[in-house]
Amino acid sequence: MPETISKPSSKPISEPISEPISETILEIGEAPSDEALLPPDMLDFLACATPDAWVAWALENPELLLIDHAQCEKKAASTAMSLLYRYVHEPLLLTKMSQLAREELLHFEQVVKLMESRGIVYRHLSASRYAEGLRRHVSSQDPARLVDILIIGAYIEARSCERFARLIPHLDPELAKFYRSLVKSEGRHYEDYLMLARHLAPGPIDDRVAFFAEREAELIATPDKAFRFHSGVPG
Ligand SMILES: [Fe+2]
Ligand SMILES: [Fe+2]
Repeated sequence: MPETISKPSSKPISEPISEPISETILEIGEAPSDEALLPPDMLDFLACATPDAWVAWALENPELLLIDHAQCEKKAASTAMSLLYRYVHEPLLLTKMSQLAREELLHFEQVVKLMESRGIVYRHLSASRYAEGLRRHVSSQDPARLVDILIIGAYIEARSCERFARLIPHLDPELAKFYRSLVKSEGRHYEDYLMLARHLAPGPIDDRVAFFAEREAELIATPDKAFRFHSGVPG
């Protein structure tokens, strides 16, 4: 277990945070993320790091964090399932997406169980602008459409992975352990989506990756109204 998890200044997410925001941000700036757990090159793939202001926002909203996290796992499974239905002629995609959907549903069950043990009631939340902000740029015709969806999948997985790693040093041991296991899974999902995009594209995808890198970074770095797992900074 990394030293930072057990250091006395880490805030258990299950307990209310009473310090002023400015102190929380200072502490976040000092706490390292668990970057060693991330797949190589993933931080280069993302055009910006998650701002400290989002980490502070997450720690102020422990219930919303877990409820929206559960929603994200369910949606990730659903996206994979929709690809299974639409692209039945791509065996590698079918294998990878089937595995991914099962893993995301397992994560969903794990988050729901954790919420239950903490007395957090699952309720409906409006979706953040993030996924729609990326999907509105998806090409209308295949194969470009599929390649765009796979690149976006890689961005959503990579950002999730990076955010789990950023949060880990501030969490209670139980949640930190869970998120550390998720960093590994979501890191693999990021690699699988990117591999599939390259494998199924008729040509190089570098320009398209660069395009979505910019869109994704805008959504992460700009102000957002409500806190969600993939929201921007408080605005
Ligand atoms: Fe997941
Ligand atoms: Fe995932």
